[in-house]
Amino acid sequence: MAQTLTIRNDVPGNSSTPNLYGLMYEDINRCGDSGIYAQMLRNWNFQANDTGGAADLEFWNVLGGDKAASIALDAKHGLNDINTNSLRLDVKSVSDGRVGISNEGWWGIRVQPDETYKASFFAKASDGFSGPLNVTLESSSGTVLASASVDGLSDTFQKFNVELKADVKEVSTDNVFGVSVDSKDAEGKSLWFQVFTLFGDTYNDRENGLRPDLAETLKGLNPHFFRFPGGNNLEGMSIDQRWKWNETVGPLEERKGRFGNWEYWNTNGQGLLDYMYLTEDLGMTPVLDVWAGYALDDSSVPEDELEPYIEEVMNELEYLMGDTSTEYGKLRAEHGREEPFEIPYIEIGNEDWFSTTYEYRYRAFYDAITAKYPDAKIISTAAQESRPYDLIDDHFYVTSAEMIDKFNYYDNYARSGNGSGIFVGEFATNTKGCCGTSPASMEAALADSVFITGLERNSDFVKMIAYAPYIKRHEQEQWDPDMIHFDTEKVWVAPFYYVMQMYNKYDFDTILQVDADGINFGPLYWVAGSNKEKNQIYVKAVNVGGDEQSVSFNFKGLNVKKNGEAHIVAGQPDDENTIDSPDTIQPKTSKFKTSNKSSLDYTFEPYSATVLVLDIN
Ligand SMILES: *[C@@H]1O[C@H](CO)[C@@H](O)[C@H](O)[C@H]1NC(C)=O
Ligand SMILES: *[C@@H]1O[C@H](CO)[C@@H](O)[C@H](O)[C@H]1NC(C)=O
Ligand SMILES: *[C@@H]1O[C@H](CO)[C@@H](O)[C@H](O)[C@H]1NC(C)=O
Ligand SMILES: *[C@@H]1O[C@H](CO)[C@@H](O)[C@H](O)[C@H]1NC(C)=O
Ligand SMILES: *[C@@H]1O[C@H](CO)[C@@H](O)[C@H](O)[C@H]1NC(C)=O
Ligand SMILES: *[C@@H]1O[C@H](CO)[C@@H](O)[C@H](O)[C@H]1NC(C)=O
Repeated sequence: MAQTLTIRNDVPGNSSTPNLYGLMYEDINRCGDSGIYAQMLRNWNFQANDTGGAADLEFWNVLGGDKAASIALDAKHGLNDINTNSLRLDVKSVSDGRVGISNEGWWGIRVQPDETYKASFFAKASDGFSGPLNVTLESSSGTVLASASVDGLSDTFQKFNVELKADVKEVSTDNVFGVSVDSKDAEGKSLWFQVFTLFGDTYNDRENGLRPDLAETLKGLNPHFFRFPGGNNLEGMSIDQRWKWNETVGPLEERKGRFGNWEYWNTNGQGLLDYMYLTEDLGMTPVLDVWAGYALDDSSVPEDELEPYIEEVMNELEYLMGDTSTEYGKLRAEHGREEPFEIPYIEIGNEDWFSTTYEYRYRAFYDAITAKYPDAKIISTAAQESRPYDLIDDHFYVTSAEMIDKFNYYDNYARSGNGSGIFVGEFATNTKGCCGTSPASMEAALADSVFITGLERNSDFVKMIAYAPYIKRHEQEQWDPDMIHFDTEKVWVAPFYYVMQMYNKYDFDTILQVDADGINFGPLYWVAGSNKEKNQIYVKAVNVGGDEQSVSFNFKGLNVKKNGEAHIVAGQPDDENTIDSPDTIQPKTSKFKTSNKSSLDYTFEPYSATVLVLDIN
């Protein structure tokens, strides 16, 4: 029997929410430090070791050999109250050439043609040694790729800045950053160092900014909102280890790192204000997640002790939204940003269905926040009955069969109640089951595509959609699947990236009714909508089966033009984009012709997600 879908523009459709897709962000899978945060040095301020234990000099080495010099962590020569250690270099002999220190970076340091590197550090020296210091980017075997000299050290810490331009023809990553001396003057003397930075080019030339290739890959999705800073990583492994906004702002030498929930040290080099710049630079609306009295060791702040934590959040909000006459608005201006931000969405906590205390915690934070910011849209993370909410944040990490089954999850969901809509704040098909150990395969992409097709069918009520997690460093994954993969050299994306990109691009304002004849949902799933401004209609369809699906489309209440365009992501279920084969799944575009003004025959490829774009008269 013929499969017919009739697209109805002759009956009113529901309004769809514009700008549905955005990003959910937290530092997981080494995606922040070592990833989008473009700082290239590792263990750059000796606050703690990689797993949050006692500080050490891991990732630092002696240049010139142990006989010529030694290094030590020196707690007697701290830079300030926050950076209480320093790296001490004791120079014994320079008779065999230069001696110094080197940093391995985050699995190497990328040096590429036409890039300028900026380095900085604090340094001082004993016994009148004043320099010079030779700052280098060099291969791990010692070939110097770029160098610059600084002079004028004294017995108190000063900050030094250099620019390094490498004269290289191709990209390499097996490199280190070095600081060395070669003057006889240095022999027998000690040098102390703290708070190093090394940045290549950054996105939008932002100081302390983003690695450009990763930022461009995020921008490639054209995300409309940014939920940050977590996720679990907001919450802390204990109440005291929560993400504290005040320790993430100001000059780098005043920032305090913390042991993140994903079990590695977070430097907070990328902090609250940096996240806001990221949000602005990528043209997104901020969705600020605030700490709400619960940590992941299952401890809750008792109701009568919540006050200081509420104050902490109110200070954070004032730092972002207050003008310069306020205490924290003034602090923001001192940190370089005079103009206040707007924070239209504030989420209270994260996945609070883990706890039994959300009722009183939500109520307390809700009351304080809405009293001062009555226009803010408040997002609740779990069911509670104490106070209303604007959106509720639902998360889905399930198998492909279960995800496909959720196609109609919101179809019969009550549209009224205390909330005006749904924020699908995290989802990803985990083909091997929850959680975090499944490939970002085409199979996963197809199930995710079915799910978002269902969300778009309900986009009168589903207001925001974000996948999670988005980004992972290759071989440092703590949670698979992820959408964007990188190593020190390059970036590549999973199949679902391309589906989300095209679903987002072909954004409709009205969900059209579709009548089916001779066909049910499965293996083909669909949604249709119209975009008045562009005078187009879109049919988005996912075929999770291994056979082609031929469909006769009829259009009622509209005339389609002759030439249409299909955007397709297709492949075998096991296909993945890997480091060696990053382009296995690529989106493609093909042309088609309609039969006449009211009909189209189209055949969907096996294992595919497709957007049909039709111009209308
Ligand atoms: C970090 O320090 C802790 C405690 O001192 C220690 O147990 C752990 O092995 C260290 N981790 C690394 C990666 O060195
Ligand atoms: C730094 O040291 C390297 C290796 O000895 C040398 O080639 C380079 O010229 C030095 N750079 C400066 C600025 O002194
Ligand atoms: C940040 O604020 C919290 C209270 O909200 C306080 O406990 C902590 O000491 C502050 N951190 C710094 C470095 O001042
Ligand atoms: C709405 O909130 C009120 C309290 O403000 C609560 O009693 C009621 O159960 C809530 N209704 C829904 C549908 O969540
Ligand atoms: C519009 O939304 C209602 C639920 O509120 C639903 O019953 C109806 O099928 C939807 N119409 C379309 C065209 O999606
Ligand atoms: C349009 O084409 C379809 C399929 O070929 C056909 O069934 C229908 O009669 C045609 N309609 C018009 C108005 O020509």
